Amino acid sequence: MSGQNLKVYRGEILHSLNDPAQVGDQQSFEYFPDGLLVVKDGLVESAGPYQKLLPDLPEQVNIEHHQDSLIMPGFVDCHIHYPQTQIVGAYGEQLIEWLNNYTFPMESEFSSPDNSRAVADIFIDELLRNGTTAALVMATVHKQSAEAFFRAASNRRMRMICGKIMMDRNAPDYLTDTAESGYEDSAELIGRWHGKDRLSYAITPRFAPTSSEDQLKKAGQLLREHPGVYMHTHLAENLEEIKWVKELFPRASGYLDVYDHYGLLGKRSIFAHCIHLNDHEFELLHKTGSGIAFCPTSNLFLGSGLFPLSKTENKKVNTGLATDIGGGTSFSLLQTINEAYKIQQLQKHRLSPFKSLYLATLGGARTLGIDKTIGNFEPGKEADFIVLDYRATPLLDLRLQRCTTIADKFFALTILGDDRAVKATYILGKEAYRKG
Ligand code: GUN
Ligand code: ZN
Repeated sequence: MSGQNLKVYRGEILHSLNDPAQVGDQQSFEYFPDGLLVVKDGLVESAGPYQKLLPDLPEQVNIEHHQDSLIMPGFVDCHIHYPQTQIVGAYGEQLIEWLNNYTFPMESEFSSPDNSRAVADIFIDELLRNGTTAALVMATVHKQSAEAFFRAASNRRMRMICGKIMMDRNAPDYLTDTAESGYEDSAELIGRWHGKDRLSYAITPRFAPTSSEDQLKKAGQLLREHPGVYMHTHLAENLEEIKWVKELFPRASGYLDVYDHYGLLGKRSIFAHCIHLNDHEFELLHKTGSGIAFCPTSNLFLGSGLFPLSKTENKKVNTGLATDIGGGTSFSLLQTINEAYKIQQLQKHRLSPFKSLYLATLGGARTLGIDKTIGNFEPGKEADFIVLDYRATPLLDLRLQRCTTIADKFFALTILGDDRAVKATYILGKEAYRKG
């Protein structure tokens, strides 16, 4: 093996291979207690036991050794709003009031390109500090907000999917587009950013209540006209919202049917929340290859409900984890797993550490249709990875002394860990963040 552009990392290595719901926990992952991750030209060359891989390396190669740490793929956040960074933890409301009282006024500030650029940079710093290396991101209705985000993500060489929100009714005048301008602005952004660097575009009708039938029709038209782009929206998050959708679309058989009617379901369609769906709707998501973003901290904070993860397993619907900042309360996928675990506990469903690992990495990548390029350490994948510190806090250090298996250790990290546990984050094999 030639030493050019070769980077080698030694430590405990854990990555997901498949969904534990399909193959069982023990077949779902690979773990090397003393492992090597070999990266060449930003891509994974190999991952395996230190003793096995060492003889193949050039003699003079430098090995970065991470003791008391876990090397794993970067986290994938399947639904997040970058313009809501400054309203995390806004007091007292559920979805509709929260949107009107906090979210819409905040989003109005993204008509400014300068503000958009500043917040996009802060947001990406925060992702990296939390070990998140890929995300599906909502901008605001302003095309300049998506423009600023794409530029910031491109500068950091990150794998990101984003889109400007389409919203032409039931929102303040200062925050609406029209069916026509939403179509044109989205098409312009697709032309400029979709497929550039590691970026993709998502057509983003905010949710059914804020788009007219004309606008939803235009969203479907955009999807047909631009094969390969994504569709990103909210679905069945809150009971009041669902009642409102019934009033606005009396002819639809249900909430998902509204989107289906306009041709918005498919392999690259991702629906955030999906708490209150019936069996038929889960089956339709499966049949169309659509994906779900499970947003635990948001669902608890906004009092939206308990996500039925077992349904997604029984009905085989692609599902990933998401923070839903600013309805969600933490950028950390570790904390997101913590809350996901408790939501499943309340429903007598056990969320295993390996299922959590899957949901936060490979499962998220599958949900976003990017598992050929990221999500685990299979050779040839892009080397976006993180190093988690077993000694990040005194309590974590103490707790881990009592953990003997990788299942115990990873579980402790997800319950007690957060951004403090992220020692370093690498993008395409290059250090993009290091703690302290
Ligand atoms: N539904 C429509 N818009 C939003 C939003 O910004 N956040 C959440 N959590 N739900 C929504
Ligand atoms: Zn959201």
